Amino acid sequence: QVKRVSVPDIAARKGQEPVVILTAYSVSMARLLDPHCDCLLVGDSLGMVLYGLDSTLPVTLDMMINHGAAVVRGSSRACVIVDLPWASYQESPQQAFRNAARVLAETGAQAVKLEGGEEMAETVDFLVRRGIPVMGHVGLTPQAVNALGGYRARGRSDAEQQKILGDARAVAEAGAFSVVVEGVVEPLARTITENVPAITIGIGASPACDGQVLVSDDMLGLFGGFTPKFVKRYAELGDQISSAAAEYAAEVRSRAFPGPAHLFGVKKG
Ligand code: KIV
Ligand code: NA
Repeated sequence: QVKRVSVPDIAARKGQEPVVILTAYSVSMARLLDPHCDCLLVGDSLGMVLYGLDSTLPVTLDMMINHGAAVVRGSSRACVIVDLPWASYQESPQQAFRNAARVLAETGAQAVKLEGGEEMAETVDFLVRRGIPVMGHVGLTPQAVNALGGYRARGRSDAEQQKILGDARAVAEAGAFSVVVEGVVEPLARTITENVPAITIGIGASPACDGQVLVSDDMLGLFGGFTPKFVKRYAELGDQISSAAAEYAAEVRSRAFPGPAHLFGVKKG
């Protein structure tokens, strides 16, 4: 049995080889990605990617726990991190602890991720002191879509850059071992990486970050919806699935499938 990458292993990677992270929501995807990744992130992006929701806001704790448990079952090596969904942690440090503890206990994951900056520092501190490793998430924070008015890149003004740098500092000083920096102008991601002790994980950020994450369905060409500028398509699996389904449909209609190799015969004699 291989030992899983631990949170301290990840925390020790500052200035070392970049940390490789992809999202996973299912056993099958976790199995395929596990050998190649340091961490698997069970992101609340599953609300849009798997459930067709308009935003991540309707995602529930039960959804995150079910998919988190599946990803832990499907992996043996990667450090598994599960997103705390909207409204499961913002109310108070106590609410956050209760729900984060359920996530770790019921999934077997090693850490939780939550969005926010200075306003979440007290909560991060509360969780970390009680044994729950926390990954932060600053910049473009999708759960704040209503307050931010959309999914535009952040940090275009000096004031916004100062705010986001302060947010990253605050969650890191509160004890977050790592912080996702999403959808910010490149120099800001670089500055955060150089000035914050936590491991920065970029998405739409900078190659200077201590690691990178992408939504697997986006980078594999599986998600038909809008894909942001920062996603590189490493495969077009959606096209492959479409042609496979078309071929199957044609063969069923022409009775070419099932063929002799797929049928049970009766024993002779
Ligand atoms: O939900 C998610 O997939 C995420 C990553 C994109 C960072 O939060
Ligand atoms: Na997320």
